[in-house]
Amino acid sequence: MQKLLIAISLFLLTLQSSFAEESDYTPTALIVGSDREVGFEFTRTYANRGWNVIATGVAPEQNTDLMDLASANTRVTIETFNANDFDAVDALAKKYRGTPVDLLLYATRLNVAEPPSNMEIQKFGQFDYDIFYLSLTTNAVAAIKVAEAFNDNVITSQHKKVVQLSSMNGSIGKPKIRCQRCGNFFTESSFAAANALMRRLFKLHRSRETGVVVGMIAPGPVSIKDIAPLVADNFPADSLVSVEDSVAGMVKIIDGLNEENSGSFYNYNGQELPW
Ligand SMILES: NC(=O)c1ccc[n+]([C@@H]2O[C@H](COP(=O)([O-])OP(=O)(O)OC[C@H]3O[C@@H](n4cnc5c(N)ncnc54)[C@H](OP(=O)(O)O)[C@@H]3O)[C@@H](O)[C@H]2O)c1
Repeated sequence: MQKLLIAISLFLLTLQSSFAEESDYTPTALIVGSDREVGFEFTRTYANRGWNVIATGVAPEQNTDLMDLASANTRVTIETFNANDFDAVDALAKKYRGTPVDLLLYATRLNVAEPPSNMEIQKFGQFDYDIFYLSLTTNAVAAIKVAEAFNDNVITSQHKKVVQLSSMNGSIGKPKIRCQRCGNFFTESSFAAANALMRRLFKLHRSRETGVVVGMIAPGPVSIKDIAPLVADNFPADSLVSVEDSVAGMVKIIDGLNEENSGSFYNYNGQELPW
């Protein structure tokens, strides 16, 4: 009888320690583009959830809210990082080798729509091809480069999620809306390429049975400071969404990403978007 009790106690102790190990796990999000409104709101949200956040930006020190968040929260680490510098991508991946990355979130774009002057460089007949290439690289090629560099980090994590913030402008099948200035050659082609690359990544992970899931999400017409007048001019007032509501919707989608819906393209409100 005594032996039986000892055996049961040992079994319970083992069970308890394995549960403790699981609940001790702190997930990590690597957010590329943490220093503007949408990326920053993601950073704040995951930090508030108690995740480790590797928050990157081209010039993160310019965002005092981000710097304050990192000073107040030891789980937020700031990295200065330009996704178009592929040596820097490899160097960052090397620095974090062995660190599981549960959510790799690419929230970066070359914003060629910022008014007023940038609209001129993307008019048919006067394209600035250097900016066109930069747009393709920042919005699409660098995203797959980052996913490639951090592949092992994602595979060895518990959540195993790769998400790119895309744009409705990347949808070739999107409903034709009357919009004078939204959408343009650079943005539409680069996000269509980004979607195609992420879709291909999803197929690769599915065929290799890695368990990694991939999602593309359009944040909607977010009324961020820099482009608020442009957005307001081109979308009905009732379709505009605040940064907080957009990110809350996208976090819900990310929470629900699984092997069944991996490879899908969503709007921030959960609606599936056509390719
Ligand atoms: N706002 C909208 O209405 C809207 C609509 C559709 C899609 N989206 C998508 O949502 C995401 C965030 O949008 P947003 O409105 O917050 O964009 P944003 O204000 O233009 O910010 C873009 C972010 O990308 C970063 N970035 C630019 N080039 C980079 C590079 N080479 N390497 C690393 N980071 C770089 C910027 O860093 P710096 O600040 O240091 O330059 C900034 O943090 C983007 O993917 C965008 O396509 C937004």
